[in-house]
Amino acid sequence: MSGLALYPGSFDPVTNGHEDIVRRSLKFVDRLVVAVARNGSKTPLFSVDERVRLLEVVFAGEPKISVCSFEGLLADFARAEGADLVVRGLRAVSDFEFEFQMALMNRQLSPELETVFLMPDQHLTYLSSSIVREIAGFGGDVSAFVHPEVLKALVAKSSP
Ligand code: PNS
Repeated sequence: MSGLALYPGSFDPVTNGHEDIVRRSLKFVDRLVVAVARNGSKTPLFSVDERVRLLEVVFAGEPKISVCSFEGLLADFARAEGADLVVRGLRAVSDFEFEFQMALMNRQLSPELETVFLMPDQHLTYLSSSIVREIAGFGGDVSAFVHPEVLKALVAKSSP
């Protein structure tokens, strides 16, 4: 059990895969903060504020979940928030190297911070925000992969 856990990421945008991981984590987490990293190196489709708003819509009415953004190191943010756990999703072996490096580096920076990996449902293992952005950008149907509000936001971004 964890009193307060963080689920950090880019969430550009949140997908059903992220949602699946959040719901699984609630089995052993009292409170979960979904935390959007402000200093991601990628060029995002959605601004941080847009991503936070979409996450708030997806997890509206969930008393155990809150959404925020953070700047700087995850380990520092976790310490400031009093979080003892980081939740990350692991879809395939290809995720492993980056996740392993990040978890061990975060442990080095903050030894009291534990990282746990959860696997999404099988039908979501091939899903990623980047593939959703790409399909939606070319006008493809991503309604099976994202919340209806995210779908609306994607359509609005890709329409001229
Ligand atoms: O969804 P992503 O892009 O895979 O999430 C990566 C994220 C945001 C969790 C990671 O880049 C991160 O924690 N960034 C904050 C800065 C930091 O602490 N970097 C060192 C990690 S060891």
